[in-house]
Amino acid sequence: MKPVILVTGGTGYIGSHTVVELLEEKMEVVIIDNLSNSEREVLDGIAGITGTRPHFEEVDLRDRKATYGVFEKYPRIDAIIHFAAFKAVGESVEKPLDYYENNLLSLIHLLEAMHKYRVGHMVFSSSCTVYGEPDSVPVTEDAPIKKANSPYGNTKQISEEIMQDWLNASRDKSIIALRYFNPIGAHPSALIGELPTGIPNNLVPFITQTAAGIRDCLNVFGDDYNTPDGSAIRDYINVVDLARAHVVAIRRLLEGNQKAAFEVFNLGTGKGLSVFEVIAAFEKATGQKLNYRIVDRREGDVEQVYADTRYANQELGWKAEKGIEETLRSAWEWEKQIRSKKATS
Ligand code: UD1
Repeated sequence: MKPVILVTGGTGYIGSHTVVELLEEKMEVVIIDNLSNSEREVLDGIAGITGTRPHFEEVDLRDRKATYGVFEKYPRIDAIIHFAAFKAVGESVEKPLDYYENNLLSLIHLLEAMHKYRVGHMVFSSSCTVYGEPDSVPVTEDAPIKKANSPYGNTKQISEEIMQDWLNASRDKSIIALRYFNPIGAHPSALIGELPTGIPNNLVPFITQTAAGIRDCLNVFGDDYNTPDGSAIRDYINVVDLARAHVVAIRRLLEGNQKAAFEVFNLGTGKGLSVFEVIAAFEKATGQKLNYRIVDRREGDVEQVYADTRYANQELGWKAEKGIEETLRSAWEWEKQIRSKKATS
């Protein structure tokens, strides 16, 4: 029988790419999403790529009863991948309680449901934000957890603690937390991708919108960092590579290969790129000239962070494969696709 995987936030950016990879691996997928930051049409994109339409339940995980209802309806869920969460750093500073309520309550309800409905495994979306400003790079999984610099980051740290405490009290359960570095790009089909609402906070959607003429100019936040070209350094990982890591993590859990009830892996490429390097790579990959200017540093930004990927590479047998130019080209193809859709609708 096919494994049944419940994917919360499955119509979101990373969620939708992961659903595609799960379906391609012949797993059955049930999506829970409240569509607060995604659109139902994403399901068409998923079906267009895979030829399969996943089950979809429009449910808010803060609603315990409705959440339990999904487990009643699909009694054979083998594992959960929990993406659904608010993720905008700046917004979390403005509305901290929304972030604590949504991100923590959703997790708690899922853990309760895992107990009640005997679901043994979860893969959790965590973030390299838990490392804060790291003491050294590349960052290994045992680097210290620093005080979070936003309520959003704090919800990821607290979530990891909640899961560990819960696992200490629960037998026969296992969780893998995947700490993402900077996911970018889109599916090569250009049928799914990132759909930022309003003005994008993240670098790559801002770049593609600038190239598309929706934004006048990209602001480069600081050129006075202690890095070779002065701009900040991050580890940009292709979203399809990232999605594939979730399938590997699910298999590890289902096959009982985990070394501990709670495991953590960094998901990155291991290579740090500066903002200027990303701009240059985008121009080279797409032939688009990008309008940009240098402005002050953005509050809360760290100077440089990139992953030590050795543990994930060895233990999971997984490696990020796609290069930065191919990835940025996919982001650009997706941007053009959204624009042409909007123009015709
Ligand atoms: C941000 C979050 C991180 C979160 C991740 C989710 C912050 C401080 N961190 O990561 O916690 O997990 O998003 O996607 O917000 N940049 C520009 N101009 C722009 C936008 C970004 O120069 O218009 C620069 C930033 O200063 C940074 C790099 O590009 O150096 C990447 O920024 P971004 O894409 O926002 O990701 P992070 O800040 O690394």
